[in-house]
Amino acid sequence: MPTWTQRCLVLRPPSHFSFFALAAVSSYAILTRFDETRSMNTKRGRLVVLEGIDGAGTTTHVARLADRLRKQRVPVHATREPSDGPVGTLARQVLTGRIVVPGGRAPGWVTMALLFAADRMDHVESEIEPFLAEGGVVVSDRYDASSLAYQSISSGAESKEAVEWIRALNRYVLRPDLTIVLDVAPDVASERRALRGEMAQLYEQNEVQRALAAFYKDLSKHVPGDRVVVVDASDSIEIVHEHIWTVYERAFSS
Ligand SMILES: Nc1ncnc2c1ncn2[C@@H]1O[C@H](COP(=O)(O)OP(=O)(O)O)[C@@H](O)[C@H]1O
Ligand SMILES: [Mg+2]
Repeated sequence: MPTWTQRCLVLRPPSHFSFFALAAVSSYAILTRFDETRSMNTKRGRLVVLEGIDGAGTTTHVARLADRLRKQRVPVHATREPSDGPVGTLARQVLTGRIVVPGGRAPGWVTMALLFAADRMDHVESEIEPFLAEGGVVVSDRYDASSLAYQSISSGAESKEAVEWIRALNRYVLRPDLTIVLDVAPDVASERRALRGEMAQLYEQNEVQRALAAFYKDLSKHVPGDRVVVVDASDSIEIVHEHIWTVYERAFSS
């Protein structure tokens, strides 16, 4: 019968061996994992924005695009403006008439432009940037083009200066990698809104929508340097989705 010390001596060589083997395998695993994480973090994601008048289909198509990307195992975050953050929630309450100024009307275009710009900075800092840093694709239902369009049009006669000022206000927000404008006749959009059956929000009067449609067709003029593609959104949801997918693939296939 071997003594306890003799047993340990017999066991020691293989246990040393296993210890080193285990250490080598785990360091390799840790290093490889670290490398993968690092390469994932160095690949920056992209910000894709869908814009258009009310009823053009931005909400529908943000969801469709995000679903298709998810099916391809692309990490995707679908979001919207006004955002679901604290400032965005306030902006939504103005749009639905829950917040008014004394006298019962909605705050004017200057207040709205400031509110939307504050929400956008908060949205970028707290939601968009962190996701892009992880290499994901952020698809946003509206972004700063909505501020340029909606607030400049509601400024009336001062619309040219308003565009300049709103651009300056949004000077520090991240530029999108692609903006897709869903172009649809205001009458068609109005029918779609009626079918949606929700209460009309601020800006949903027909003459405002007509002015917005014209502004959106010319959007690239107001955001020089951005990649803006106008897509015909008058067809069925399926066909419009295919147009959007083609534009997305073309923009990022290189
Ligand atoms: N291409 C389309 N053809 C027909 N109906 C559509 C189309 N795109 C959206 N819709 C419908 O129109 C309504 C408004 O779409 P929505 O995505 O909410 O528009 P938006 O977000 O631009 O206001 C919804 O009921 C939606 O199902
Ligand atoms: Mg919508």
